[in-house]
Amino acid sequence: MNPLVQVVLDDIAQQVATRMDLEVAEVRSLLEVPRESGRGDFALPCFPFARVMRRAPQQIAEEIATAFEPGPIIQSCQATGPFVNFTLDPAERARRVLGAIHSGGDDFGSQDIGSGKTVVLDYSSPNIAKPFHVGHLRSTVIGAALIRVYRSLGYQTIGVNHLGDWGTQFGHMMAAYSREDWKDPEREASDPIPFYRELYARFNLEIERDAGLAEEGRNWFRRLEEGDQEARELWKKFHDVSMIEFDRIYRKLGVTFDHFTGESFYNDKMDRVVEEARSREVAVESEGALVISVGDHVPPVMLLKSNGTTTYHTRDLAAAMYRQETFDFEMLLYVVGEEQRLHFQQLFHALERMGFEWAARCRHVGFGRYPNISSRGQGGKRFVGLDEILDEAIRRAKEKASENSDIEDASGVAEVVGIGAVIFNDLKNNRKKDVDFDPEDWNTILEFRGDTGPYVQYSHARTASIIRKHGAPVSTRIDYQLLTTPEDRTLVSLLESYPGRLAMAGQEVEPSLVTRYLLDLTKALSHYYHKHKVLVEDPPLRAARILLIDCARQVIANGLKILGVAAPERM
Ligand code: ARG
Repeated sequence: MNPLVQVVLDDIAQQVATRMDLEVAEVRSLLEVPRESGRGDFALPCFPFARVMRRAPQQIAEEIATAFEPGPIIQSCQATGPFVNFTLDPAERARRVLGAIHSGGDDFGSQDIGSGKTVVLDYSSPNIAKPFHVGHLRSTVIGAALIRVYRSLGYQTIGVNHLGDWGTQFGHMMAAYSREDWKDPEREASDPIPFYRELYARFNLEIERDAGLAEEGRNWFRRLEEGDQEARELWKKFHDVSMIEFDRIYRKLGVTFDHFTGESFYNDKMDRVVEEARSREVAVESEGALVISVGDHVPPVMLLKSNGTTTYHTRDLAAAMYRQETFDFEMLLYVVGEEQRLHFQQLFHALERMGFEWAARCRHVGFGRYPNISSRGQGGKRFVGLDEILDEAIRRAKEKASENSDIEDASGVAEVVGIGAVIFNDLKNNRKKDVDFDPEDWNTILEFRGDTGPYVQYSHARTASIIRKHGAPVSTRIDYQLLTTPEDRTLVSLLESYPGRLAMAGQEVEPSLVTRYLLDLTKALSHYYHKHKVLVEDPPLRAARILLIDCARQVIANGLKILGVAAPERM
């Protein structure tokens, strides 16, 4: 709930409770926003008081309305059947809201709901020597937005990149790499990642025909887990090459992490998992492997394979235990595609079975796919690597910009418009939905109108340009009675609801609440321009509208920042 509204509702509850001899908390919890328009700004349903007060709700509503004394902000109070409706003074409301935005500036929206609490977010987490695909893009973009949401809600946030840098696939990589007949030093030097990727793919094809290869792969991974020198060196080589590529992508997206603790980080922390599982008597032998069973309908969690090596699950168990001990989190969120739902269900069950009460504070934050893009080029879909998407977005944005650009640094602006378009589109809908994106049709996401990132950026730049043309400092010492037309009220109430939206995005772990909010605000703003000229001659009216518009600019900028989208001043 938004802090400004909070104060008003507290005041209403306080007064009604004192005058009617009711519980403040009860009155407070009943106050709501009326569903019908024309019924004031807040309503208090009186049914719940009928029994104790032994009167009809209609009569109670009348009594409350008569007893209530309107003040500077609550302008009037009226009974409508069994409801009491409260109406705020629009000028006073505008004064409070715009004052808070103007003084809050870049911090408007920040809250302290989370103070003293830590949220750990496991996100991005691509795999070494494999492509960074669109699933990792989604995880990166959603995770980074959530980090900013929680940070502005006052939580301490820890962003962890759980790199896929361990596991049997590394054994496969090494086995493939050390085959004399597959070597190609020139290609490796010029194009290492694609070369490794192909080696890996080739190995996985050949393995179908040649069972001996699988054995070779497992041996290499065992050597790696045992700390064999040659295996470690190869591992480091694949790791370093991939990191260069990942860094390039993170730099483009403006994303950073607090920790790059990938799966390999837990190599020396897995014995403990096995010991704990044994000592808590939840680990059982099954066909030579060691497993934790997690119920009748979910497959068991494998801790050790029959050859003694660990699994993705073992490393996730070690990671969860490590994070609990190190960060003492309030929430541990895993931003990973819906296709890993079962993996996390098993993981959380296993933690529960091991007796960790904090398992209840772990949560899988799943998301949908990009159905029109395949990271493997299968199924008739066009192969589009992530780097290609970002580069193409920038190239197209530049093309569009050059048509009508007279601004300095047009190329820098086009870059943030291109990247912003991809990010905004990714965060536009409920995260569980698939992303609507057609690599053959860039216009839909790059257009300066419609539900796009560039549209919101453009709307921000337009407000900035009006403020520049105004040419004088923005002041809050204005006549707020001049901001009470329906369009003013709509804008004020939307601006007022920003902190509440942000809090809801945190509660529901849903960045699209911010994206949707920005689209609503942008539309209201464009409707405002349609109805009212801002740079009018009349100085008091002009000053009032300038303040309103500048507050809208501020809130759009703050919201875009949460999403990780830049807000250029000129476009
Ligand atoms: N590396 C994995 C993948 O690309 C994602 C890891 C997610 N995080 C985790 N703790 N399992 O599929």
